[in-house]
Amino acid sequence: MRNAYAPYSRCFVGAALEAADGKVYTGCNVENAAFTPTCCAERTAVFKAVSEGVREFRAIAVVGGREGKVEGLFPPCGVCRQVLLEFCGRDFPVYLGEGGGKYRAVTLGELIPFGFTAEECMDPAD
Ligand code: THU
Repeated sequence: MRNAYAPYSRCFVGAALEAADGKVYTGCNVENAAFTPTCCAERTAVFKAVSEGVREFRAIAVVGGREGKVEGLFPPCGVCRQVLLEFCGRDFPVYLGEGGGKYRAVTLGELIPFGFTAEECMDPAD
């Protein structure tokens, strides 16, 4: 959250993605004056890890809030849910910060029940 670049929304978001080996990849949101190129904290963390050759993960925690105040859940957007689903199963734990050091634990499958996966996308013969 501290590193979030969010001059437009003033929503400061942080994500911590734990890899299978225990290493944690952090991410923050990075906004853009053109808005569309903005990257969320979760995707920043996933892309950092994948770009370093890491594709297996244990869990992710997401915390955010307007003006950097965590006053409730800041759940992953639909695009981030879909990106997480590419590398993490439906039982993947997602910890949503709600303020006061408390987290709500949900699964990725709960967040994206009808997510699109390689199963639908790829020809079974390939
Ligand atoms: N944001 C995230 O970083 N993660 C999410 O999944 C939800 C939205 C960011 C994007 C943008 O910089 C700001 O929050 C407001 O949408």
